[in-house]
Amino acid sequence: MYAQLVETGSKHIRSLDEMAPEERAFQQRVDEGIKIEAKDWMPEGYRKTLIRQISQHAHSEIVGQLPEGNWVTRAPSLKRKSILLAKIQDEAGHGLYLYSAAETLGVSRDELLGGLHSGKAKYSSIFNYPTLSWADMGAIGWLVDGSAIINQVPLCRCSYGPYARAMVRVCKEESFHARQGYDIMLALCNGTPQQKQMAQDALNRWWWPSLMMFGPSDAESVNSAQSAAWRIKLFSNDELRQKMVDQTVPQAQFLGLTVPDPDLKLNEETQHYEFGEIDWTEFNNILKGNGPCNRDRLRTRVKAYDDGEWFRDALVAHADKQESSKAQTQLAA
Ligand code: 3HC
Repeated sequence: MYAQLVETGSKHIRSLDEMAPEERAFQQRVDEGIKIEAKDWMPEGYRKTLIRQISQHAHSEIVGQLPEGNWVTRAPSLKRKSILLAKIQDEAGHGLYLYSAAETLGVSRDELLGGLHSGKAKYSSIFNYPTLSWADMGAIGWLVDGSAIINQVPLCRCSYGPYARAMVRVCKEESFHARQGYDIMLALCNGTPQQKQMAQDALNRWWWPSLMMFGPSDAESVNSAQSAAWRIKLFSNDELRQKMVDQTVPQAQFLGLTVPDPDLKLNEETQHYEFGEIDWTEFNNILKGNGPCNRDRLRTRVKAYDDGEWFRDALVAHADKQESSKAQTQLAA
């Protein structure tokens, strides 16, 4: 993608001969697929882009637990409850890997969380929708985690080492998340007509927001060109969105469900599905904080952080006590 972007002179992407020697050496390493590590020199813009993207990715994992948390006590069986609990716990772990990856870039956990709690930092639009039925747990696993896998697998090969390595384990666990979601949808579609209708209603509610997860169109994306040049982004927003549609439509057909898009049709020549226009007004409204659940999600996260202050203080007090007793032992020796 980088070469093509430079050729087309896209959005202030400087070519190698326009770069200072240090930056040119950096870019050549990136172009050769050599991982950049935390101790390596990097352009300030590269560091800032990674902090932005990795922290928002981490925020998405943590906030993403909330819509599903709503259904733990309402799961239809002990088995479904334990699977859902395991998935939600995984997401907390994904958030921790990603916050730790972001911290390797010289930013503190408090700064990252401050960005989320102040509303300055984003998290994925998808988590600002309500979960209205058990079928939503299926649709989220199938469509949202399915989309996350499509977006995250390339990140395992991105240029920044700590991010790429964090993604390897995340993707393994995401596969379980997507499978359990599809299994819920399959059970409902093989159930009573009412259960199948629940699954169809959930697909109707989650289909378009899942396509929005991949970000604005390539033409509207302000970060893609540079992120591609730095091999943070290996595929464009539209390429990954198309991959999700092509992969998911046959799955919906297997379930006997109808994708809520009258313009959806298979292009026999390209073997890709053409689909209708995304409602970017809805997308941009959510990014502005005006989605159905934005305020509730943020309020819940801020309350959880405030309620945990005593625990963080206890950990710091314990660590300080450990430090001082270690120092006294060394003095006495
Ligand atoms: N929700 C919220 N904000 C979004 C968004 C979305 N779905 N898509 C794009 N944006 C924001 C971008 O953050 C950017 O704003 P910023 O500059 O203030 O950060 C702006 O819209 C323009 O979008 P771009 O395409 O230019 O921005 P990026 O190059 O950063 O691409 C992205 C956006 C594709 C989401 C990219 O950041 C990315 O791949 N992030 C890593 C993966 C990720 O965060 N996935 C979110 C879901 S995680 C998840 O689903 C957990 C799973 O367990 C369920």
